[in-house]
Amino acid sequence: MQDFEGKTAFITGGSTGIGFGMATVFARAGMNVVITDIRDEELAKAEGELKSITDNVLTLNVNSADVSAVEKAAADVADRFGPLHVLCNNAGVPGGAKVLETPNERWRNVHEVNFWGPLNGIKTFLPRMLEHGEDAHIVNTSSFSGIHGHGNQSCYGTSKFAVVGLSEFLRNDLAGTNVGVSVLCPHVVDTPIIAGLKSRVNDDLRKIIDDMAVDPETVGAQVMSAMRNGELYIFCDGTHTREMLETRCADMITAMDRQFPKP
Ligand SMILES: NC(=O)c1ccc[n+]([C@@H]2O[C@H](COP(=O)([O-])OP(=O)(O)OC[C@H]3O[C@@H](n4cnc5c(N)ncnc54)[C@H](O)[C@@H]3O)[C@@H](O)[C@H]2O)c1
Repeated sequence: MQDFEGKTAFITGGSTGIGFGMATVFARAGMNVVITDIRDEELAKAEGELKSITDNVLTLNVNSADVSAVEKAAADVADRFGPLHVLCNNAGVPGGAKVLETPNERWRNVHEVNFWGPLNGIKTFLPRMLEHGEDAHIVNTSSFSGIHGHGNQSCYGTSKFAVVGLSEFLRNDLAGTNVGVSVLCPHVVDTPIIAGLKSRVNDDLRKIIDDMAVDPETVGAQVMSAMRNGELYIFCDGTHTREMLETRCADMITAMDRQFPKP
């Protein structure tokens, strides 16, 4: 996708953090911006800030895990702005300790938002995007925890692995169509989720997190660049994550070589 001016973006969980960073960058590029969230106060605050950039802002209280609410939002977007061009399935919740220590209810809640949320967005908006035929793009927010299984992140990490898988299969489904797909895999971005984490750790760890943290608007610009270049994977830093990626790939190749040595 090359032209963004006058096009419309829909960003779930867009009132703070990465979603708001994307909304800000898209608004500056001349896009109509729709942000959804489940928190009215944050939505109102975000709307006020975005309106200093453009009047073409719509905020909606939508629970991404509720498909009928997402369908209603799609009708509201069509009424206000017409066809949708960019869908950012970004809303997500943290959570999860070791597998056995995470109650089933928590597993279900986290997967409802982090995996079913993006699926609800895709099932609702993709048929319309294919039908209007203009250049369009879907960005699913996963995490570096969806690329490499580090720490004890059970329900969160598995939900993010599922989002990477969903995006890869969607890319196959949509080959040769007007709709591109990217999956956003941030490691640490300076957002309220990370502020919560920082409040629970010691000073040394807090400093490490601060050193790693990327600014949400930088992520917004990385997303825009990936849409322009038709890139599937969007990484937000290559300093702290490269070794993890290399280890994962090397472990898999080593396992294959051990069982089936390369001829
Ligand atoms: N911040 C990071 O370092 C980081 C790293 C990797 C991945 N992520 C992912 O990025 C995404 C955005 O997170 P963030 O860090 O900007 O945090 P954030 O808390 O600022 O943003 C998440 C937003 O989603 C909203 N939300 C939660 N449940 C929702 C639901 N059911 N329906 C609609 N909105 C809902 C929240 O109210 C919040 O505004 C998440 O998917 C998160 O997992 C963040």
